[in-house]
Amino acid sequence: VIRIYFVDIKLKFMEKSPNFWNYLDELVRTSLVAIDRPKGSRHPRYPDFVQPLDYGYLEGTSGGDGAGVDVWLGSLKPAHLDAVLLTVDLYKRDVEVKLLLGCDEQEKELALAASNSEMMHAELVQRHPAPIWLEQRHSVRRFTNQPVDRDLLVQVLQAAVLAPSAHNRQPWRFVALSSPESKETLATAMAADFEQDLQADGLSLAEVEAQVKRAHQRIVRAPAAILLCLDTSLGDAYPDARRQQAELLMGVQGVAMAGENLLLAAAGVGLGGVWMCAPLFAQETVRQALDLPESWLAQGLVLLGYPSKPPQARSRRPLEEVALFK
Ligand SMILES: Cc1cc2nc3c(=O)[nH]c(=O)nc-3n(C[C@H](O)[C@H](O)[C@H](O)COP(=O)(O)O)c2cc1C
Repeated sequence: VIRIYFVDIKLKFMEKSPNFWNYLDELVRTSLVAIDRPKGSRHPRYPDFVQPLDYGYLEGTSGGDGAGVDVWLGSLKPAHLDAVLLTVDLYKRDVEVKLLLGCDEQEKELALAASNSEMMHAELVQRHPAPIWLEQRHSVRRFTNQPVDRDLLVQVLQAAVLAPSAHNRQPWRFVALSSPESKETLATAMAADFEQDLQADGLSLAEVEAQVKRAHQRIVRAPAAILLCLDTSLGDAYPDARRQQAELLMGVQGVAMAGENLLLAAAGVGLGGVWMCAPLFAQETVRQALDLPESWLAQGLVLLGYPSKPPQARSRRPLEEVALFK
């Protein structure tokens, strides 16, 4: 009982500590890597298996099977540790943590594939999982009817507030809408403004009706929506319009960053989301409809739910077109 208790405490410590990877770094830094199965060599027990990467162990250490801690060595130099494989081997009846040193994404996949067989299962744990989320996030506009738990809304909002903000003023404010009534209130109020704008644009009555109905339905049919607002009372005050405008923009930028965090966190927990700009065109209407403080300026509405089909990646302009290197 005492041993189980001890292990439990250690696991809790490791979960919370940012040092898990630092401790592994220290182990690697103070060890020699011995490669006993070079890339291209055949496995001693399974000759059909050709090593896809250098494979070995850290000298003077002991892993789950009593031998040295296993290492997959990739082509990147310096050979940083940024992923581990957690393996369960039913043949050896052991569990191990294998270190991936200097492996690029393709090499990580090779090591993962080589560690999965009928008798062994491996999970890849990345040191920096964020890049996966970046690629996982796509705008999702159609959702299943499955409601989004309040816990998940709290989780994505907690990610949102980790965003940077000017003077760390944290000017973002959120309104989480998941009840049919609150979504209907907002959608109906915004529909009236949208209708006026489209009429002023000179669209036909039928076209106005179709567009307004579509916009209304998108909001009420989304399982949840989070309104992103800027609290304009928090910025510094300047006597001149130029700096006042910059201060307002800084606030908007902070809210946008929180919005991106929110969308990434949503993708990370399996939700789909899309940013709708509509509230920006109806700021006062939105504020009044939801009875928000006067200083809250609506910036956007993020619709959230479970994607009804796998989201599609949209193309990006090449870096040469959007970035200058000087
Ligand atoms: C500020 C902003 C406003 C947006 N407004 C809308 C919108 O009103 N309706 C919509 O369907 N998508 C909207 N989007 C989503 C974009 O269309 C989408 O991000 C873009 O097409 C790239 O696709 P991806 O997000 O799947 O990579 C908006 C995105 C941003 C950042």
